Amino acid sequence: MGDLTYWSFPTRIVFGIGAAEQTGVEATRLGAKRALIVTDKGVVGAGVLGGIERSLRGAGITWSIFDDVLGNPIEKNVHDGVRAFRESGADLVIAIGGGSPLDVGKLVRLGVNHTRPLADYDDAKGGDRYITSNVPPMLALPTTAGTGSEVGRSGVVTIDATHRKTVIFSPHLLANAAIIDPELTRGLPPFFTAATGFDALTHCLEAYVARGDHPMADGIAFEGIRLVARYIERAYARGDDLEARGGMLKASMMGAVAFQKGLGACHSLAHPLSSEHNLHHGLANALCLPAVCAFNAEVAGARLAEVGALLGGEASPRGCVDALRNLRSRLGLVSGLGEAGVPRESIDKLADLAFEDACHGSNPRPCSRDDLRALYEASF
Ligand SMILES: NC(=O)c1ccc[n+]([C@@H]2O[C@H](COP(=O)([O-])OP(=O)(O)OC[C@H]3O[C@@H](n4cnc5c(N)ncnc54)[C@H](O)[C@@H]3O)[C@@H](O)[C@H]2O)c1
Ligand SMILES: [Fe+2]
Repeated sequence: MGDLTYWSFPTRIVFGIGAAEQTGVEATRLGAKRALIVTDKGVVGAGVLGGIERSLRGAGITWSIFDDVLGNPIEKNVHDGVRAFRESGADLVIAIGGGSPLDVGKLVRLGVNHTRPLADYDDAKGGDRYITSNVPPMLALPTTAGTGSEVGRSGVVTIDATHRKTVIFSPHLLANAAIIDPELTRGLPPFFTAATGFDALTHCLEAYVARGDHPMADGIAFEGIRLVARYIERAYARGDDLEARGGMLKASMMGAVAFQKGLGACHSLAHPLSSEHNLHHGLANALCLPAVCAFNAEVAGARLAEVGALLGGEASPRGCVDALRNLRSRLGLVSGLGEAGVPRESIDKLADLAFEDACHGSNPRPCSRDDLRALYEASF
């Protein structure tokens, strides 16, 4: 038998303006009576819950709200959420928010019947073998267009003991349905529109050039990049442009579907920037991606040239790097790690942590610890 590859794209997705009003119907399909809404205070403050709550009420479903989730979530957020789930007698998780609440929502459902310490489930250590289908159901409603966590199988959390952003991964963590409504992202401020959009772009781009044979992921990643190129500046300039918001939500969802093929060095560089210096994940990607593309040029030149052209630049790896830098500045993002407040003295520790991170395993060009250090240097 030759090498086997596993391909799957299974989530039920309800997409469109007004989709959030289907939340009650989707919850009923799952047999739920009482939901725990997992979200954060920013999302609650943005007023996006109203239509969702109306829909639950209409379906005769009761709920309580857990909103103690940090950007760059920590273990405590998960443990507190599990307690809230048990104490409220919930039978369904409804995660509403950006990647942070969606990831915590997945890990709360994991924690309900899985009692090992969270660190044991670390994907980098084969922790998925402990994860069974014994998890309560979950609906996912994204309010940012970046992580695509609503269709992904992973939850990312910073583990206390190692202070590492840790990926917990299992098909059993896939949401039972994703409800994707552009209205929910209407009020997302320009900075987060830009930064989360860069996360979506990074997922598509890293997946497109990642090692491995996955033609479906490649096709989805390519279309995702095309959607980002078409819509990110419109969504940034006018938050109420719902066609652009919808385009970015599609790109975000497609990025997460595509990166089942693998990510790359940029995500390994980004993770420690968030756990050590609390940089927003998308911003961390935006700062490192041009240097990573330049580093990958010698092995992934043809694909990077295609991306350069998609992004409106020259059809060459150099054109891709320049197009990314130009896009970043048109979106008002800072242009280097120094400007983002990262101290140069931390670079050795960051390089050690980035090397421990699993994502660079599928980078098209293998990376040593010193390569990763040089990529941080090049991103200052
Ligand atoms: N599971 C995955 O596959 C995956 C992939 C990439 C990133 N991540 C993780 O996701 C997290 C980042 O998620 P994110 O980029 O979506 O950011 P986030 O969830 O941390 O949200 C960023 C900020 O935007 C606010 N916000 C969200 N939606 C809003 C809205 N509609 N209106 C106004 N404010 C709103 C939030 O309150 C928060 O302050 C990180 O922890 C990252 O590691 C996970
Ligand atoms: Fe990401």
